[in-house]
Amino acid sequence: MTILGIETSCDETAAALVEDGVNVLSSVVYSQIEIHQPFDGVVPEVASRNHLMKILSVIEEAMAGRSLDAIDAVAVTNGPGLVGSLLVGLSTAKSISFSRAKPLIAVNHIQAHMYAPHLGASIAFPYIALVASGGHTLLYRVESFDRMELLGSTIDDAVGEAFDKAAKVLGLGYPGGPLIDREAKGGDASAFDMPRGLPDTRQDRYNFSYSGLKTALAYRLRDRRLTPELVRDAAASFQKAAVEMLIRKASNAIGDTGIRRLVISGGVAANSFLRERVGALKAEGIEVHTAPMAYCGDNAAMVAGRGWADAQSGRFADMSVEAFSRLPNVVKGKRSVERK
Ligand code: KG4
Ligand code: ZN
Repeated sequence: MTILGIETSCDETAAALVEDGVNVLSSVVYSQIEIHQPFDGVVPEVASRNHLMKILSVIEEAMAGRSLDAIDAVAVTNGPGLVGSLLVGLSTAKSISFSRAKPLIAVNHIQAHMYAPHLGASIAFPYIALVASGGHTLLYRVESFDRMELLGSTIDDAVGEAFDKAAKVLGLGYPGGPLIDREAKGGDASAFDMPRGLPDTRQDRYNFSYSGLKTALAYRLRDRRLTPELVRDAAASFQKAAVEMLIRKASNAIGDTGIRRLVISGGVAANSFLRERVGALKAEGIEVHTAPMAYCGDNAAMVAGRGWADAQSGRFADMSVEAFSRLPNVVKGKRSVERK
C-alpha cells in the first residue's frame, strides 16, 4: 500500500511517499525557517501563505514523475498545529482524494511524530513514548498503534520551546535547538547550576516544566557580558538540564511500568546530547529507539507511516474532517493527569 503523506502543521511544507508504512520512496521537506528568522519565531499568517505557494511543487517533487493514480491513499496532518497552515495541507489532500477517488486518512501530528522511529527500525510493543518537540512534551504508555495512555506532559513550555527561548536569551537566533546544540559542544555543562524541574512527587512523576529553566538562565546571565565562552557554558548547562529532565521523567515511567523499551521522537530528538545520553540508558539494559535524524523534525514520511497504521485499523476520514489546534487532553498550565 503506497500512501502520499502531506504535512503543513507549522513551518515545514512536506510531502512523502511511503510503501507499507516502512519503505520511504521519497520525502520532501521545504522549510520556512529563513522566512521566519527575522521575526525570531513562526508568524502564523506568513506560514500559511508560504504553504500555499509551495504545497503543489513539494507534492509534485515527492511524486517524482509518478501519477497520482499510482497511490492507494492520501494521509494528511489535520492537527494539532496552526489552523491556517493545517488548512492548506488538508484542503489539498481533500482535493486529491476527491478528484482521484483515493481514500483520505486524517493523521494526528503527535501520533505521526511517535511513528517516526518506526521508519528506522522494527519496534515491538509495548513501549514508553517520549515526544519532545517545539509544541509538545509528552510521555505515553503505548500498547499498540491504537492503544496508548497519556502519562504526563509539560505543565507550561514545551522542551523545544524552551530551547528556542533560551537561544533568544543567549542572542543566538531562531530556531534555538540546533544553535544551542552547536554552542554546547564547546561549553562546560557544569558551569551553571540549573533547576531540575518538577519534583518526582506522585502527582508530577511524569510531568515536565520548562518555563523555570529559561527564567533561571536569564537570571544567571543578568548583568553579565555575553562572551562566546559564557554563551557556550550557558548553552551546555541549559541543554544538560533540559535533557536530564526528559530522561528522568521517562525513567520514572520505565521504572514504574516495568516496560523497558523507550521510543523518542520530535524535533528535540535530534539533540546530540540527548542521543548521547541515551547510551547510558542502553547500558542499563533499556531498549531505546530514537527517530532517525531525517524524521525528527516535521516531515511527511511520518505522516504517511502513521496513515498506514490508521488504514490497517480501517480509520479513514471523509470530507467533513476538520483542522484542530490543540490536543484535547493537554492544556497549557494544567497537569495532564491529576494523581492523588
Ligand atoms: O517537531 P518539530 O519540528 O515541530 C513541532 O512539532 O513542534 O520540533 C521543532 C523544535 C524546535 O523547538 C527546535 O528548536 C527543536 O525542535 N530542535 C532541537 C534540535 N533540533 C530541533 N532542540 C534541541 N536540539 C536540537 N538539535
Ligand atoms: Zn512537529
